[in-house]
Amino acid sequence: MTALACQRFEKFWSQVALSYNDHEIAILGSDQPRNFNCITNKHLCHFISHIKDNLREAKSLGFKISTILNRYYDTIILEMTKSKETNMGLIALTEDNIKYGGSMIICGDNQIGIKSFLRNISNYQTAEKTFVKKKGSIAVYKKKQPLFSHWKKYQDFHLNRDGYYTRCDMFSPKEVDKGSRQLTSAFDTKLFGEVADLGSGWGYLSKEALRQNDKITKLTLFENNYSAYLASKKNIDDKRATFRWTSLKNIKKLKPRFDHVICNPPFHSGKLKDIDLLRSFVFYCSRLIKHQGSVWMVFVSGVYVESDLKQYFDIIKILYKDNHYFVCQLLKPNIKRH
Ligand SMILES: C[S@@+](CC[C@H](N)C(=O)[O-])C[C@H]1O[C@@H](n2cnc3c(N)ncnc32)[C@H](O)[C@@H]1O
Repeated sequence: MTALACQRFEKFWSQVALSYNDHEIAILGSDQPRNFNCITNKHLCHFISHIKDNLREAKSLGFKISTILNRYYDTIILEMTKSKETNMGLIALTEDNIKYGGSMIICGDNQIGIKSFLRNISNYQTAEKTFVKKKGSIAVYKKKQPLFSHWKKYQDFHLNRDGYYTRCDMFSPKEVDKGSRQLTSAFDTKLFGEVADLGSGWGYLSKEALRQNDKITKLTLFENNYSAYLASKKNIDDKRATFRWTSLKNIKKLKPRFDHVICNPPFHSGKLKDIDLLRSFVFYCSRLIKHQGSVWMVFVSGVYVESDLKQYFDIIKILYKDNHYFVCQLLKPNIKRH
């Protein structure tokens, strides 16, 4: 689908690029900077994202990068995410940051519901131009009077059902993930010393680890998504916690320095399933743990199989298993073979 999104935007842009030639442009919502590589005036174009890896890629393509929209643009290109609420929040943000008379360009795949989203927008405003191709659509709107202010609420952090601050643009925002809950019951009061939480999200695992384990001296949370990183800071008030907004891919020196690693690994990059990302998390766990340490992980059943773990650890203890998840303790990292 990514290739199609890229081809669609290229075709659209080849028809309209001249009219946007000297425009200051921002791109929002996209997890694929390459989809917009056909924009030639990259020095006038900001790629806005909360995901460290996306920003890094956008920068390498020549875009200017930022986590926030902090000024007015002539044009904002909004690529739909798979979260409807996030999309509504982004529309409100876009509207606030376009110069009067400027353009909002909305693009997305059929698979994530672009058609119904554009129908919803058309209840407020008619598109100046629509472009339907390659299993998706692109629509252009002119900024007039404010129409979407009531969607600003989707940009705020809210307390979820379980009493944690979250926002719609992160993993399991409405409630604690069931797999993560199983994982906390498995490690329980068994953690001590230096602990790492890889892909810490809005901080549930770390908060529970700190609450249940006085013997933890330091806990480092590593998270790629800036929103989730900010939420985890709001959720955890404990001097032992250190927060790092980073992609694991950027950790240069993988030293085996942790007594315990806790992790509910991702298996999606943006909208796409990404088993290599999951596998890389198992690898990072094996590199960051001391030889005598323990890794505590939960996997969605069927996504990754127990036998794959043998590539990285000599001892695998399955602590919990049902039709949906399995939780394991991984011991004796076998780093020699890598
Ligand atoms: C399945 S979620 C688990 C979140 C949290 N630990 C929990 O249990 O609720 C995986 C997390 O990994 C993060 N992530 C994805 N790729 C990453 C990367 N390369 N480096 C660091 N974190 C990453 C995602 O943003 C997401 O928050």
